[in-house]
Amino acid sequence: MIKIPAHVAIIMDGNGRWAKQRLLPRFAGHQQGLNSVRTAITFCAKKHIPCLTLFAFSSENWRRPETEVNFLLGLFLRSLKSELKTLAENKVCLKIIGDKSSFSEELKTAILEAEKITENNTGMRLNIAFNYGGHWDIIQATKKITEEVTEGKLKTQDISEEIFRSHLTLNDCPDPDLLIRTSGEYRISNFLLWQFAYTELYFTDCFWPDFREEQFEEALKVYNKRKRRFGYIGEQIEQSPPDFAIIEQKIHA
Ligand code: IPE
Ligand code: IPE
Ligand code: MG
Repeated sequence: MIKIPAHVAIIMDGNGRWAKQRLLPRFAGHQQGLNSVRTAITFCAKKHIPCLTLFAFSSENWRRPETEVNFLLGLFLRSLKSELKTLAENKVCLKIIGDKSSFSEELKTAILEAEKITENNTGMRLNIAFNYGGHWDIIQATKKITEEVTEGKLKTQDISEEIFRSHLTLNDCPDPDLLIRTSGEYRISNFLLWQFAYTELYFTDCFWPDFREEQFEEALKVYNKRKRRFGYIGEQIEQSPPDFAIIEQKIHA
């Protein structure tokens, strides 16, 4: 029986190199990458993967040339409108995570509308991380906790992993079981730093625009061969296979 991860996170990398290989401008790679986004969503819906988080723009990606940043912002804005049909067909509930404070009013409105339109969809949850950084997430959680302590709603000695987790942006999703990073880079690039504590990491040389059903199937196959131990020894797991969902809850508690 195939184990289906409860949450898959993807660092969609390699759009620029995909385009360069074809002597195309970088934006052509980003545009083509959108087809892989659609494939990933329909694949997860089909496989009953309940939660998918896609890294679309990091807090460091502002460092790119202005024309590329503007293209990515524009593509994101257009997609929030054009992809609503795909989201509805797959019963997807959409959430955008990241620092939205610097977004234009137009983008903020489009985000609110897309989230509102999809909020009652009963299928999978899709998180798009845009202007997201793991450092930012930890700092914004710390600020909220500090405010609660200052206001007397929380005592310093009561700050636990569970309390901290509940202030992070993905507080209503389990931690990712599987992280996929495309394009042959072996790093996290400031993605879900807290949440990746026990995530299985899968790296593939495939560029994101080439990452389709077959490649996703392969990632799931590799994930299924992994032996997760969560600190136990192998024999403990083999003798009485623990329920990892319960273990994860304990880890989170
Ligand atoms: C990922 O592809 C998309 C974003 C980071 C927005 P890249 O644009 O990083 O592509 P490469 O890594 O330069 O090939
Ligand atoms: C990570 O890719 C961010 C996204 C995929 C959105 P980058 O291409 O920005 O990562 P680095 O700079 O190579 O680490
Ligand atoms: Mg890259």
